[in-house]
Amino acid sequence: MGNADRASGLQPGEVETELGVPIAGVILPPDQWARTAVKQLPPPGPLDWTAFFGRHAPVVLDLGCGNGRFVVAEALRHPERNFLGFDILPMVIRYATRRANQRGLHHVRFAVSGAFDFLEQYVPEHSIAEIHLYHPQPFRDVERAYRRLVTPEFLGLVHRCLEPSGRLVVQTDNPGYWRYIVGIAGNWFDFVTQEGPWPEDPLGRTRREIVARRQGLRVFRGQGTARTDVDAARTRQWIDELPLPTFDASVFDDRSTDQPSQRGGPRGRGGSGRGGFGRGGFGQGGSGRGGFGQGGSGRGGSGRGESGRGGFGQGGSGRGGSGRGESGRGGFGQGGSGRGGSGRGEGR
Ligand SMILES: C[S@@+](CC[C@H](N)C(=O)[O-])C[C@H]1O[C@@H](n2cnc3c(N)ncnc32)[C@H](O)[C@@H]1O
Repeated sequence: MGNADRASGLQPGEVETELGVPIAGVILPPDQWARTAVKQLPPPGPLDWTAFFGRHAPVVLDLGCGNGRFVVAEALRHPERNFLGFDILPMVIRYATRRANQRGLHHVRFAVSGAFDFLEQYVPEHSIAEIHLYHPQPFRDVERAYRRLVTPEFLGLVHRCLEPSGRLVVQTDNPGYWRYIVGIAGNWFDFVTQEGPWPEDPLGRTRREIVARRQGLRVFRGQGTARTDVDAARTRQWIDELPLPTFDASVFDDRSTDQPSQRGGPRGRGGSGRGGFGRGGFGQGGSGRGGFGQGGSGRGGSGRGESGRGGFGQGGSGRGGSGRGESGRGGFGQGGSGRGGSGRGEGR
């Protein structure tokens, strides 16, 4: 445990608060602490969850879990489930593990990993009971928009990982992101919005929710059960047809107070899934999984993707952007009708 724990200054029996809001549970005496850090993930391949957790139980994932507030609270509420939170930032995982360790949460694990890569490389098909995604980064800078996690490919992957009728829970304080999610989630999920805070966490489920509410931002919440009538072929079709997340994340307009629809957009919306998104001419990158062109005029983007899918070019007549991948698969984008960019992989 060491310095980080001594530095927290918390004594057994104490209740920890963050931003004035208590974190669930109390600090236990050290002899009852757990070891929740996954120091190193095994080589990519489907995980055996029973071996991973040391017991058989429904598995719950929190993607981009930050400092672990939600996982800690939910794990205390549900000792009968196994929890894995992961985040791309090692520092927040250190906070999360300390909290879960000190509360003796033996059925919790935390790991450093990118969400897309983890789902794609480690999660066996239909093996997860619940996937939670709270406040994925909206990336207001358009140059980094390609890093937005929620895309048709991502939702297809989440669906593939979930058990039949498994649950996806998602929330954001970005109106554009929310409209985008609600617009496409209905393809894979029977998606409903949650009005107001989650009853179990009235003061805020996560750190970002607490911060956003203090800033007067509206928080959008929803959940959906995985549709049982969606197969891999439908998913491939929707990945090709549905729009990519090119919304303007810097806009907090009047519509941020709209009540979103009670159900996600209809499946196969408008045939191409473009209707109603206010942006024309999405063109999927020609030869990379990443990369997309956006209608209208624009210029090439550049960037870096979680696993090499990064990079997209904007502009119907613009040029494609370039991207670098963190896990060695070079990504590259191609403008809608422009020329493709290039990318290179960068091993982890
Ligand atoms: C706005 S914070 C939200 C954290 C937490 N879920 C909350 O609601 O307080 C977004 C988190 O996602 C993490 N993140 C960003 N991209 C990620 C990715 N591709 N995979 C996993 N985590 C990611 C960031 O490091 C950050 O901790």
